[in-house]
Amino acid sequence: MSTKSELLKLLESNKGTYLSGEEMAGRLGCSRTAVWKAMKSLRDDGYKIKAVNNKGYVLDTDSDILSKEAIRLYLKNKEVFIEVKKEIESTNQYLKKQGIEENLPAGSFVLAEMQKAGKGRRGRSFFSPEKTGLYMSVLLRPRRTAQESLNITAAAAVAVCNAVEKICGVTLGIKWVNDLYLKEKKVCGILTEAVTDFETGDIEFAVVGIGLNLYFPDGGFPEEIAQTAGASLERGVYLDRNILAAEIVNHLLEESEKEGIPAEYIKRNLVPGRTVRVSYGSEERIVLAKEILPDGRLLIENQQGEEEILICGDVSLKL
Ligand code: BTN
Repeated sequence: MSTKSELLKLLESNKGTYLSGEEMAGRLGCSRTAVWKAMKSLRDDGYKIKAVNNKGYVLDTDSDILSKEAIRLYLKNKEVFIEVKKEIESTNQYLKKQGIEENLPAGSFVLAEMQKAGKGRRGRSFFSPEKTGLYMSVLLRPRRTAQESLNITAAAAVAVCNAVEKICGVTLGIKWVNDLYLKEKKVCGILTEAVTDFETGDIEFAVVGIGLNLYFPDGGFPEEIAQTAGASLERGVYLDRNILAAEIVNHLLEESEKEGIPAEYIKRNLVPGRTVRVSYGSEERIVLAKEILPDGRLLIENQQGEEEILICGDVSLKL
């Protein structure tokens, strides 16, 4: 690990607590000049590090720059591959490529401060501006076929809900299949993509992409999602996104080990009991959503009063 990386880890784990230059040099086993150089480089990266005479240096408590050093402090499995990018086309696209080329182990993940071409489901884009969201992709190696991929998506939805509840104190609902809602607004989208063995249909690995809107973006959401998109937190509420990212990964790795659809996925679902608009391709209709079945499919009643079971599709809560 470089001195800069070691220093960042030290500052992140002592956020709000002053450390003298001498103490830091001692802990890192390097000279004070090396500490000073690393400090300058971190400041150039945007870290707010205060220096006070006779007290030393401290990283601001409201520092929120994503880094693997900070995230690792809060991970249960600290040895995983992590990459943090300032900007990227799409974390899902990048992790799929890295997963194939580097044969990455389960639990590897990538985050970006912003995405230039964030991918949503069904070929849509996902608005991913900097500072106001969390955009991440996690590689999983489930022993499942592609048909069972609904379980992974459901596990991811539950994992994000639990992590957001723990770290942000906000309770989210799930809109079947995999959108997370707060007060009737979508605050998170999940895109699970699988790389499969063509012959057996088994998943070689899956990439779970999570896009979470934390704050209302400057300039608002683009027109096409302005009515449906929302934010998880009020402006001005401080959150260390490093802690939230680590917590999401911790929950996801645990949740994705379990068999079947989590009971919590069904319990948190906002769809049952509502009249909704369902679209699949160009077909659109108004139906009554009755129940999320134990295997994650949606039981509906169509306008002819007949029951049908949907395995996928887009549900709109607004008619
Ligand atoms: C959806 O709402 O349709 C799913 C959105 C998924 C967005 C996330 S952001 C991180 C990851 N990288 C992507 O390009 N997409 C997913």
